[in-house]
Order: sequence, then structure tokens, then C-alpha cells
Amino acid sequence: MIPANFHQTYGPGALVTGASSGIGQAFAEELAALGFDLVIAARRIDRLETLAARLNAQHGVKVTALEVDLARANAAQSLLDATAAQDIGLVVSNAGFGLKGPHEANDAATMTDMLMVNCNIPLQLAHGFIPRLRARRGAGKGGGIIFNASIEGLMGCPYSAAYSASKALVIALGEALWGEVSNEGIDILTLCPGATESEAAAKQGIDPAMLHNQLPAADVAQATLAHIAEGPTFFSSDYYKASFDQLLAMPRREALAAMAAGMKPTR
Ligand SMILES: NC(=O)c1ccc[n+]([C@@H]2O[C@H](COP(=O)([O-])OP(=O)(O)OC[C@H]3O[C@@H](n4cnc5c(N)ncnc54)[C@H](OP(=O)(O)O)[C@@H]3O)[C@@H](O)[C@H]2O)c1
Repeated sequence: MIPANFHQTYGPGALVTGASSGIGQAFAEELAALGFDLVIAARRIDRLETLAARLNAQHGVKVTALEVDLARANAAQSLLDATAAQDIGLVVSNAGFGLKGPHEANDAATMTDMLMVNCNIPLQLAHGFIPRLRARRGAGKGGGIIFNASIEGLMGCPYSAAYSASKALVIALGEALWGEVSNEGIDILTLCPGATESEAAAKQGIDPAMLHNQLPAADVAQATLAHIAEGPTFFSSDYYKASFDQLLAMPRREALAAMAAGMKPTR
């Protein structure tokens, strides 16, 4: 359950990246319902503006929509600049995307974009926001950063090589920062979702038959917010956590061979 003092601790404002669909949109909806003013960022500005208008009408909160391509080199700085004058106590670094299939078959430039969106943005947002969150402490408030990683970051996943490597960075980043700042009243939580209902699977051409036990994005967002103070990591799916625990308990070569057999594209 989300603590009753959640808004008091992390409010009044929150930044959510990748709020134009899926888990990010669910975070935005949940936070607006808790009374947060929001800055929401993604490329599809039409989606963001529609969401902003709806959340404003439903909850009376102020929602600022920012059109930004997070793969661009100046994107993190543009988010930091756009939020500089606002009292943001919660950063949800959620935007990300994956690529499936044989590593050599994926587009090289898209992989570079993926590293920028999945890795550089969380790294730079944390760099820019930690001093701001620390400064709130003097005013008697807390602060938090949620990184959206993936269960796939727990080991190298064949046929998802670059994505799982990118999410391993996010998990390591989140763990390290938890070790650095959680004793200063800044909560760091790295979310590792298993399969979650969103646009991601269709964008990656994933066969829906491969997706077992998908959770609704709203459930994942809500559970993550409820666990914000229980870092460093949060696994939203017991099913996927148990599957990966099994793999991680196996000799690595056997685990990778089993996973490669399961993940190998059939067409
Ligand atoms: N769904 C799952 O099963 C699952 C599992 C594990 C981890 N995750 C992680 O959850 C996060 C959210 O994904 P999702 O499942 O909700 O997928 P989604 O519905 O495809 O949402 C992805 C979000 O990221 C934004 N985004 C992607 N590339 C961007 C770019 N270059 N610039 C700005 N925004 C960008 C998208 O916005 P625009 O396209 O409008 O720019 C969209 O809002 C990702 O980090 C993903 O890796 C998802």
C-alpha cells in the first residue's frame, strides 16, 4: 500500500519519462491521483498533451508535457533545465525500449539510441537530481528516484543481448546510488518488471504466446510506489523473479544455453 504521507514526502512535483504509454503512463496516472503536479516527457507530444489534459481535469493537478527525444545528446540537460524552477521530489526514470533477435541483425544506430535512452538518461538524471533532492532535506522533505530496469538485467539474455546489457547497467547504477544516498533520506528504487502490459512487446515483434503472466501496467506502477523505501531493487512479478532465480542458480553455461533455446527466434 502507498503510504498516506507519500505526497507530503516526495511532493509537490514529480518527473516521469516515457509517460506517453505503458508503465510510464501508469506512473503518471497514479501520481496524479496522489495529487502530484507532473512533468511528463516523451516524443509523442500528442499523447502527452491528451494525458496532461485528462489528469488535470480528473485530479486538478498541473501537468507539463515535454516533447523530447531522449536519444539525443542534450536530452537529459533539457529535462534538467525544464524542471529547474520546480520543486520535484520524485523522479521516475522510466523511458526505455528493447531490441530482440540476433545481435548482429539489429540496427547499429538504433542500438546506440537504446544506450542513450536506457542508460545515459537515468545516469544523467540521477547526477542532476541528487543535489536537488538532497537540498529538499533541509526543508524537511524527502526525495526519491525510481529507475525502470528489467528482470532481463539480471543476466545476459541471448537474443536480447544489447537490451539486457543496458538494463544490467541500470540495476548496477540503482544499487550503487542506493548505497550512496539512501542514508540521506533519498530513496532509490530500481524496478525490475517481468512481462507487463504495454506497447513494448508489439514494438519488438514479440510473439504474444511467449508472454506468460503479464501484469497490468497500473499494478506495476502502484506496487513500485508502495515499495519506494524498500530499495535497492523491486521485482514486480513473483512469477518472473522465480524463473530468473532458477536460472541464476544453474551453472551459467547451462542457464545461457537453456535461455538461448527458449529465446531463439522461430522465423
Ligand atoms: N513491458 C514490459 O514487459 C517491460 C518489462 C521490463 C522492463 N520494461 C521497461 O519499462 C519501461 C517502459 O516500457 P513499457 O513497457 O511501458 O513500453 P512502452 O509502452 O513502449 O513505453 C515506452 C516509453 O518510453 C518512451 N521512449 C522510448 N524511446 C524514447 C525516446 N527516444 N525519447 C523519449 N521517450 C522515449 C516512449 O515514448 P515515445 O515513443 O512517445 O517517445 C514511451 O513513453 C522501459 O524502460 C522498459 O524497458 C518493460
